[in-house]
Amino acid sequence: MPDSLAPADLFAPAAFGALRLDNRLVMAPLTRMRSGAEGIPGPIVAEHYAQRASAGLIVSEGTYPSFAGHAFVGQPGLVTEEQLAGWRAVTDAVHANGGQIVAQVMHGGRATHEHISGHEVVAPSAIAIQAEVHTPEGKEPYPVPRALRDDELPGIVEEFVTGSRNAIAAGFDGVELHGANGYLLNEFLSESSNHREAPYGGSPENRARLVIEVVRAVVDAIGADRVGLRISPERNAQDVFDTPEDAEATYGYLIDQLAPLGLAFVSILHPDPSGELVQGLRTRFGGPFLVNSGFESITTRDEALAWMAAGHSDAVVVGRAFLANPDLPRRWRENTALNELVPATIYASGAEGYTDYPTLEQVG
Ligand SMILES: Cc1cc2nc3c(=O)[nH]c(=O)nc-3n(C[C@H](O)[C@H](O)[C@H](O)COP(=O)(O)O)c2cc1C
Repeated sequence: MPDSLAPADLFAPAAFGALRLDNRLVMAPLTRMRSGAEGIPGPIVAEHYAQRASAGLIVSEGTYPSFAGHAFVGQPGLVTEEQLAGWRAVTDAVHANGGQIVAQVMHGGRATHEHISGHEVVAPSAIAIQAEVHTPEGKEPYPVPRALRDDELPGIVEEFVTGSRNAIAAGFDGVELHGANGYLLNEFLSESSNHREAPYGGSPENRARLVIEVVRAVVDAIGADRVGLRISPERNAQDVFDTPEDAEATYGYLIDQLAPLGLAFVSILHPDPSGELVQGLRTRFGGPFLVNSGFESITTRDEALAWMAAGHSDAVVVGRAFLANPDLPRRWRENTALNELVPATIYASGAEGYTDYPTLEQVG
């Protein structure tokens, strides 16, 4: 049995590739839309992440590697000099507080609008999400995306490579490639959003091809020990659906192809982390494997302790509890009270609900 399949304590340190974690509580990527129209993370973004540096590892909110990949108003990018300078202040602040941070590199695919990105919306196939999106002009239906041509896909791979190199140049400890939640890479993986023919559509192997090419290219650019991938089989988000049979076939193949690369980690978002699909993928991967149970109910301390004690995960990814509790590792270690999450300020602008959640010490 590989070492990483043995149970570990949630509060024990870990080495995942080049990453050194003081504990196995990973702050989940959380889009907060506080980087303005230019996508430049400013001082409050640095303060927000620095406050949460006691996480074993922070995964940044989804950041776009190209303007066409820009998915949300106020989302930060990894493109311009100004954006990278903003991120440098964030990574310096996290490191000064003893933390580690990787950038989530995310191309929005069809889950955006040209009123957000200023670009044509692209995807594996010309199928719109049947919902509305917040643009600077209000709520609008998602557009029908243009299907990318096969000869454009090397350019998409290059965007992930450039974004990842830029992340390292801005001081990040690594990257998490966003293959989850209905954005571009996830759209390629699923038969519901990918109606292409070979070589990038049809069979599970073909639908996994672009993700594998992206991961390999980023590994070649910055080293496998700094690269993670997030996936969300059966998450069924943003009109991307998987049947159980297809999830097993597509993600099984994907993980088998990635296993020999020596990635820093795979992070999986699934409603049943202890179930057969997730644990089967974990065994096939054999390396650091992080779990998170999804949006329906908030991740709790008891769940995290149980997944670790059962040996079902090497670290637990926690979103909303970290959002509301900057000192979450201490609170969970000491089993103390938690701050209440305030939903109304999650996507507000400015410091309110962002940098003003108190630590235990501040509460007194
Ligand atoms: C406000 C908010 C923003 C999110 N943004 C991202 C994101 O940028 N990238 C991503 O992969 N997941 C994102 N997620 C999903 C979280 O990473 C996580 O999977 C989810 O919150 C479930 O975990 P929890 O129950 O611990 O909060 C977001 C979730 C929330 C609530």
